[in-house]
Amino acid sequence: MRCSLKKLAQGIFCIYVAFTCYTTYIWLQKTLRKAENTAFQNGIKFALSGTRLSAKSKEENWNPWGEEFEDEKGGQRRPPFQAPVFSLSDVEKQALHGNSRHGSMLPWRQLELGAVKKLPSQKIHNIELWGKAAIGLYLWEHIMNSTLEDRLGGVWQYGSKRIQNLIFRFRTGPGVVPHKAPKDVENLVLVLNGREQSKIDFAKIWLDSLSTFEKLKNVAVILLGNEQCDNEWIKQYLVQNGGLVKLVFLVYDSPDVDNVNFYQWPLGVATYRGFPKFRDTIINAMKPRQYICNFLGTVYPNSSRETLMKILTAHNMGNLCYLRPRYEWLPLESEDTRQDFIQALKTSDVTLNPVGKNTECYRIYEALSMGSVPVVEDVMTPGNCGKSKVSHNAPLQLLKEYGAPVIYVKKWEELPDILKAEQKMSISKVIERRTRVLNWYKEFLLKTEEYFVGILKDRFFSS
Ligand SMILES: *[C@@H]1O[C@H](CO)[C@@H](O)[C@H](O)[C@H]1NC(C)=O
Ligand SMILES: *[C@@H]1O[C@H](CO)[C@@H](O)[C@H](O)[C@H]1NC(C)=O
Repeated sequence: MRCSLKKLAQGIFCIYVAFTCYTTYIWLQKTLRKAENTAFQNGIKFALSGTRLSAKSKEENWNPWGEEFEDEKGGQRRPPFQAPVFSLSDVEKQALHGNSRHGSMLPWRQLELGAVKKLPSQKIHNIELWGKAAIGLYLWEHIMNSTLEDRLGGVWQYGSKRIQNLIFRFRTGPGVVPHKAPKDVENLVLVLNGREQSKIDFAKIWLDSLSTFEKLKNVAVILLGNEQCDNEWIKQYLVQNGGLVKLVFLVYDSPDVDNVNFYQWPLGVATYRGFPKFRDTIINAMKPRQYICNFLGTVYPNSSRETLMKILTAHNMGNLCYLRPRYEWLPLESEDTRQDFIQALKTSDVTLNPVGKNTECYRIYEALSMGSVPVVEDVMTPGNCGKSKVSHNAPLQLLKEYGAPVIYVKKWEELPDILKAEQKMSISKVIERRTRVLNWYKEFLLKTEEYFVGILKDRFFSS
């Protein structure tokens, strides 16, 4: 009896010791983690604002345009962000997880008040880019050199990229619609098409929906303008006229370009018909090209294209040049015609660019991207396009200002002499020029990104 009582007491004592140890262990662990976290937080140099954090924490259960379906499909892993962004969101996530795990207040306020004031230039800004026109793909994949991932089997696509203290999140595809867009967006760049009335009507739906985004602070638009530069319709949306749009990056030489409300924007390559991005390693600058020139395109009656074809035929250029005139317009390329076109650019030293509805055409950028020198008809087309307050170089003021390696002609009668000079050029000179063209194009993309980011920083966040 005594023996078993002693055993019982020992047992109770053991349980007591074990319990105490466990409690101490839990307490220690908590304290340590807390300390770790605080140290970790203090070690973070960036400044997080309160609003951004609350937006971020909502994002944990926020469904960005149908992503909930992905989660439902059995916890499918979200594709990771691109490397530069990853490090930051990782930090953010750890910080947030720390918060919920301990149920304790992390010193956000301290961070906010301390760091924001001391390091205003370090403040991170999120910018949403919503691509509702194909020129958005030129911006994202070509200019910003970023990638896209399919979401919901391609209903929409997503990508992110950090540049300095700006985090860009690009979303595009039919799944990107106003009523599904995140309502807490603060900084937004909308890419829209204003080329014709049906596109304008669609663009207006987006611009009209902006008033439902209550947190919006900054809006810019990248607009594929009308080829005759009739873009009056967008002016009512400018801040200046009581709207929300601070600035518009506008395609085609518009007299509205003033570097305040309107900034010049390049047309780029035709992403809408699947013109690809070529890494410079794919284009072999050293390889001699089969043709001196190429022209593929629709020849409208009484157009300068008709003149061009007559001159090429009269001078018997059919052997030197790759010519595929078409006498009716086809809106969408088949895979064959696309490959044919790419092959033509790849195997010619120069690419002929007669004016269409506008002087600026996709083909100019496409040729440059493949090291083929564009020969461009440097004339104004009918409509309202022309010189602006800030540039007298129209047409193609942007390419001229960037010193694009282009051969300009005022009329196609100049072409035979140009082609003769091409024939006489030594192969080493041709290769040297081609290398220069490819390098120029690469630089052009980088400079355009800088221009874009610089203007956004200045107009969105400088005050
Ligand atoms: C574009 O991105 C690719 C792959 O991420 C990289 O290899 C390349 O150097 C980048 N190009 C430029 C001009 O930054
Ligand atoms: C082309 O121009 C000629 C004379 O300049 C004119 O008679 C003819 O009607 C024009 N054709 C078209 C389709 O505009």
